[in-house]
Amino acid sequence: MYDTEAFRSAIRRRLFAWYRRSARDLPWRRTRDPYAVLVSEVMLQQTQVSRVIEAYARFLRRFPTLRALARASLGDVLRAWSGLGYNRRARDLHAIAGLHPQSLPEAIEDLDALPGVGAYTAGAVACFAHGVAVAFADTNVRRVLGRAILGRAATEREAVAIDMRLMPRRRAAQWHHALMDVGAIFCRSREPRCAACPLRPVCRYRGAAEPHPPRQSSFAASDRRIRGAIVRALTITPHTVAELRRLIGDPRVPHLVAALADERIVETFGHRVRLPE
Ligand code: ADE
Repeated sequence: MYDTEAFRSAIRRRLFAWYRRSARDLPWRRTRDPYAVLVSEVMLQQTQVSRVIEAYARFLRRFPTLRALARASLGDVLRAWSGLGYNRRARDLHAIAGLHPQSLPEAIEDLDALPGVGAYTAGAVACFAHGVAVAFADTNVRRVLGRAILGRAATEREAVAIDMRLMPRRRAAQWHHALMDVGAIFCRSREPRCAACPLRPVCRYRGAAEPHPPRQSSFAASDRRIRGAIVRALTITPHTVAELRRLIGDPRVPHLVAALADERIVETFGHRVRLPE
């Protein structure tokens, strides 16, 4: 049934009617600068919108252009990233600026090939910055389109296929922004607010029971916390591994320092570890 023109226009009408009145006013929706859009999407991959808003403004003030980012040391970029976590993302952004200090590539395949950029981010940059009608799906879009059409969260592949059928070609950017808003405000993973959802009349899910997604294991979560603590300590000054181990107080520190060094997020010189110069 979702393949009928009547259904397509009903879901679009409902979504846009709601979005016109209630869209979130997010800073990255006011720019079409591909670099700024990329920064926002990379930050939003693993960090909540409320935390990204401030970090995004701060980061772009410090590095307003690809060229400014390319000229900075990775250490300075990691310092500006502090508080956001998942430091690989900062390293990848810095590497992208080094590869393309003038301007980002426009073709989706070329965007997709950039360090740390996958199908989702490539699609988001092409759509939000250049207005290309490309289908893509983050977890919000997977949940909204999946629940509406399948009655459950979709895989990325399923969601992209559904998106391709439903997305209006002339308003692709607004369409995706609106889906993300509905995903964040109503179609939440736990405790969805189906009663107030603008898509309720065209949705198959409507509050049906669904198993909770597995949580990240606490071991992985704390690896990540310790990695963050290591980088944070090094934003202040270099340390030996033994000092870091003592400061952070966890036996995994030496192993995680080695992993960070492999990933070139930190570097060793003599007995000490520092952020890359
Ligand atoms: N999550 C990922 N991308 C987003 C965007 N552009 N707006 C809001 N939430 C998002």
